[in-house]
Amino acid sequence: MGPQLFCAPCMFGIEGILGDELRRMEALEVRPQNGRVLFKGGPEILARANIGSRYAERIQVVMGQFKALSFEELFEKVRELPWERFIGKSDRFPVKGWSLDSKLHSIPDCQSIIKKAVVERLKERYRVSWFEETGTLYQIQFTIHKDEITMLIDTSGPGLHKRGYRAKSGEAPIKETLAAAIADLARVRYAPRVFDPCCGSGTLLIESALAALRIAPGIKRKFASSSWRQIPEKIWDQERSRAKELAGQKNEFSAWGGDIDEESVALTLKNSEKAGVGDCITAAVANLSEFKINSDGGAVLCNPPYGERLLDLRAAEEIIRLMGRVFKPHPKWSYYIISPHDDFENLFGRPADKRRKLYNGMLKCQLYMYYK
Ligand SMILES: C[S@@+](CC[C@H](N)C(=O)[O-])C[C@H]1O[C@@H](n2cnc3c(N)ncnc32)[C@H](O)[C@@H]1O
Repeated sequence: MGPQLFCAPCMFGIEGILGDELRRMEALEVRPQNGRVLFKGGPEILARANIGSRYAERIQVVMGQFKALSFEELFEKVRELPWERFIGKSDRFPVKGWSLDSKLHSIPDCQSIIKKAVVERLKERYRVSWFEETGTLYQIQFTIHKDEITMLIDTSGPGLHKRGYRAKSGEAPIKETLAAAIADLARVRYAPRVFDPCCGSGTLLIESALAALRIAPGIKRKFASSSWRQIPEKIWDQERSRAKELAGQKNEFSAWGGDIDEESVALTLKNSEKAGVGDCITAAVANLSEFKINSDGGAVLCNPPYGERLLDLRAAEEIIRLMGRVFKPHPKWSYYIISPHDDFENLFGRPADKRRKLYNGMLKCQLYMYYK
């Protein structure tokens, strides 16, 4: 496999952060777009991004990008693409995707046209009339946005947010990729002490620890492309070793989590152990109202209950008021709170030093940042 165009879909609002991360990984021609980042590289970049990305949802090979307004056009353009460069005679190649604001909007129809076009292409190349599809998985994906089609092959398998430490989670966990982005915005790589007084299953603390200690989130897992013949095993070994070399010393960082719910505290401790950062995270049953800052300083990251799912709105608002009282302004302390509440700053009692629009799933939120 030579230099290749890749696509990394991500949550809306973190394209820039993901772009910077990919540049740090030495990916080339990094182009952040809406909800995804395009970049170029060889097989080592594919492996590096899968093992190391904290923010990408997955890594895909871009097979082609074109405009199509009819099924005929879609069929012809998909058939022209060099699928045989990846998909072998006996490999599996199911198709899935989505369409938004486009003439071609029926997903089942697009799926079956694309499948037929790929089959036609491979029949010609391999001179066979039937594909058993029993071999390695090459999941074909497509996106159609405003009639622009992107044809992709997934290299990740289960989403990259599946780090492997969260077998069970609390009631409203934040996605690992979003938690990692908040940790980045809070600059936890330079903050030796991190706190989350509403820690739930501990995601913000664990992602902060992984980032601070430079532990690659995918170091322990396999990917769809782990068994691809296009990527020699030695590239995976080399990239895992590279990631291990980048990992820092464990004693540089500590994090504390509190939650009123005993089960959540137990979950935070269990998940931290599983993630390999158990020795730098402590957690205890505590009410946010007891939270006190000290003169050592620290960064508070918090994903409080929103009101839709956990508590009623009034109780959620009361928690924001409470945060405003206990998260006191102090030169050594900074606070990063993600909330969908339009009235957050009023309830908190102070305007944020900076705000950033982020999506928690489908929910439009802001990250309110206080650091002055
Ligand atoms: C949205 S969840 C946090 C989820 C967490 N970020 C995760 O990834 O699992 C909010 C948490 O705040 C806790 N909580 C609610 N009121 C609290 C209070 N007064 N003091 C401390 N924790 C509280 C809940 O028990 C719940 O675990």
